[in-house]
Amino acid sequence: MIKKIVLGIGVLVVGLQFFRGTPPDVASDNPDDLIATSQISSEVSGLLKAACYDCHSNETRYPWYSYITPVSWFVFDHINHGREEVNFSEWAGLRKSKKVRILKDLTEEVGEGKMPLESYTIMHGDAQLSKEQRDLLVNWAESFSAEVMKE
Ligand code: HEC
Repeated sequence: MIKKIVLGIGVLVVGLQFFRGTPPDVASDNPDDLIATSQISSEVSGLLKAACYDCHSNETRYPWYSYITPVSWFVFDHINHGREEVNFSEWAGLRKSKKVRILKDLTEEVGEGKMPLESYTIMHGDAQLSKEQRDLLVNWAESFSAEVMKE
């Protein structure tokens, strides 16, 4: 009985792999990228890269397990939605009002510890932000927003 159940689950998991979905595209050359086009300290850009860029840029790094269904469904969905809301790879081409709104949302999301998503930090220890790191990002976003408004 147990053998049959285990076998059944195995067959199901293998079968599911045919329904993986399509991973959102990756591009390494992004001339409008936030970090490439702005003066940002290496501390802040390092945090953004480590904790946000997998879902909010075109430079997503896919870990091996992200290709395994059903994990792939959640990961690809987060990346598609994340990029829709905020894509740092397209920064320079965004309207000023959009940039300011993103930076304001960022202070709220990061300040309240809602970003990066918890399902992500469980697997990416280096993306787990300390209070100091969250403060650093929030303070940066506030002063950067003031700069953007002057552009
Ligand atoms: C695992 C993927 C993932 C990671 C990593 C991630 N985000 Fe998000 N982010 C999302 C998704 C999905 C949404 C859209 C849905 C939502 O708001 O939950 C989003 C939405 C946002 C929004 C818009 C929220 C709003 O109010 O509309 C901001 C700002 C944001 N993220 C900033 C960040 C920052 C800054 C980081 C890094 C510190 C980060 N995110 C890391 C997936 C991610």
